[in-house]
Amino acid sequence: MTKAIVINETGGPEVMTWTDVTVGDPGEGQARVRNTAIGLNFIDVYFRQGIFPLPSMPGILGAEAAGVVEAVGEGVDYLNVGDRVVYSAGFGSYSEERLIAADRLIRIPDGIDDVQAAGSFSKGTTAEFLLLRAWPHNVEKGGKILVQAAAGGVGSILCQWATHLGAEVIGTVGSAAKAEIAKANGCSHVINYSEENFVERVKEITDGAGVPVVFDAVGKDTFEGSLDCLSPRGFLINFGTASGPPPMVDPTQLMLKGSLYVTRASLLHYNAARSDLQASADALFDVMLSGGVKVDVANTYALKDAAQAHKDLATRKLTGSTVLLP
Ligand SMILES: NC(=O)c1ccc[n+]([C@@H]2O[C@H](COP(=O)([O-])OP(=O)(O)OC[C@H]3O[C@@H](n4cnc5c(N)ncnc54)[C@H](OP(=O)(O)O)[C@@H]3O)[C@@H](O)[C@H]2O)c1
Repeated sequence: MTKAIVINETGGPEVMTWTDVTVGDPGEGQARVRNTAIGLNFIDVYFRQGIFPLPSMPGILGAEAAGVVEAVGEGVDYLNVGDRVVYSAGFGSYSEERLIAADRLIRIPDGIDDVQAAGSFSKGTTAEFLLLRAWPHNVEKGGKILVQAAAGGVGSILCQWATHLGAEVIGTVGSAAKAEIAKANGCSHVINYSEENFVERVKEITDGAGVPVVFDAVGKDTFEGSLDCLSPRGFLINFGTASGPPPMVDPTQLMLKGSLYVTRASLLHYNAARSDLQASADALFDVMLSGGVKVDVANTYALKDAAQAHKDLATRKLTGSTVLLP
C-alpha cells in the first residue's frame, strides 16, 4: 500500500489527509514513479482551495516531484526502469508512488540530486520561459529589470538567472530578512515593499525612466504599481497571484501609461510540447551545473506534514525552494 496526501473536499490545510492509496500498473504511454523528493509550489494551494479544480474527488495534491521509474507501459521507449526523473504536472505528486504520463518525465543529469531537482524543476523552467521566451527582448543585452517577490521560490531562481545573463535586477521583498536573500540572489537593488513605495524607488533607481519589463507573481497587491514602473512600450509579465487575482486591465490605460503590454503567462502553454519541455529542462540543468543558478532548498518537511508546509507558505514564512520528503 502507498501513502498520499488526499483531499476529500476543498478548503484550508486541515482538508489534507495522510491516506492509503492503491497504485496500479502503468497503462499505454504511462510510467509508475516512486517519488523521492516532492516540490512545494503555490499552485498546490490553489488546487487545495478549489481555485483550480482537481479532476475528481477524492484527489491527490502536488504538481512536482523527482523520483525513480519503477515500471513503464506500452509505447514508452524513451525511459528505462531505474531512471532518475523529474516532472511538473498539475496534481498527484504528494504520494509515495504514482502513475503519470511518461512524456512529462525528464531524466535528471548526474551532478543534480533528487532534492535539488524537485526544488528547482517547476520554478526553474518557469524562470526559463519567463526570461527567454515570454519577454520578446534579449535579457543578455543587460539593463535594469524588476522582479517582484525576489526571495520566493520562482523569484530566487529568476533573479539569479537574469543576473547571470547580464541584467541588473531590482527585486522586491516583504521583510528585511528576505532582503538579504534577494541580495544573495544577485539583486543589485532591493526594495522592501512592506515599508517603501516600490514605484517611487524604481523611478529613483532608473533616473525616472522605468524598467522595460516587470516579472510579477504577487498579483493583486502589486499589479497597478508594476504597470507604473514600466518605461514606454514596457512589458508586465504577470505569472501568479500570491496576494490574489489582479484587477481588470483597461486597454486605454495601457496606452496612456506608455503603450504597455500585459500578459498572464503559464508554464502549461510554454512547455506543452515535449520538445519545449526538454529544451527548457536542458537550459535549466545547464545553468545549474555551470553554477549560474544555485538552488537553495531552504526548507524540507516530511510528506505527511505537507499541511504545515502549506500554512507556512501562505503566511509568507518560506524563502527559496521547499521540498517534501516521502
Ligand atoms: N505561471 C506559471 O506557469 C507559474 C509557475 C510557477 C509558479 N507560478 C506562480 O508564481 C508565484 C510564486 O510561486 P512560488 O511557488 O515560487 O511561491 P513563493 O514565491 O515562494 O511565494 C510567494 C511569495 O509572494 C509574496 N507574497 C506577497 N503577498 C503575498 C500574500 N498575500 N500571500 C502569500 N505570499 C505573498 C511572498 O514574498 P514576500 O513576503 O517577499 O512578499 C511570498 O514568498 C505563485 O503565484 C505561483 O502560482 C506560476
